[in-house]
Amino acid sequence: MADEYGWQRVAALGDIAPGEPHGAKYGEREVVLVSHEGQVYALAGICPHAYALMCDGFISGTEIECPLHAAAFDIRTGKCLVGPTGTADLATYEVKLEGDEVWVRRRAD
Ligand code: FES
Repeated sequence: MADEYGWQRVAALGDIAPGEPHGAKYGEREVVLVSHEGQVYALAGICPHAYALMCDGFISGTEIECPLHAAAFDIRTGKCLVGPTGTADLATYEVKLEGDEVWVRRRAD
């Protein structure tokens, strides 16, 4: 459950292996966490094309690829780089680390 500022602890840092997408929940929402070069990124965990779980996808550098139809998104911005026509971007979350705890917060719309 998120605190009064919208932050929610979603994982321990050690849960997120570099190069492996890690699924978590922010409230009822699926999120996917990615560790890259010492930074943790959090994005919406459901592909906007046809509802695949992004935690089942693949990481390549700063891209995450959907496991279903191979849409690729920038882990830093959520921008859809390639994919089926009309695929929307993935929403991104703010991330903060407190010791070994990973906290995320929805960005204001
Ligand atoms: S469900 Fe992700 S690209 Fe189709």
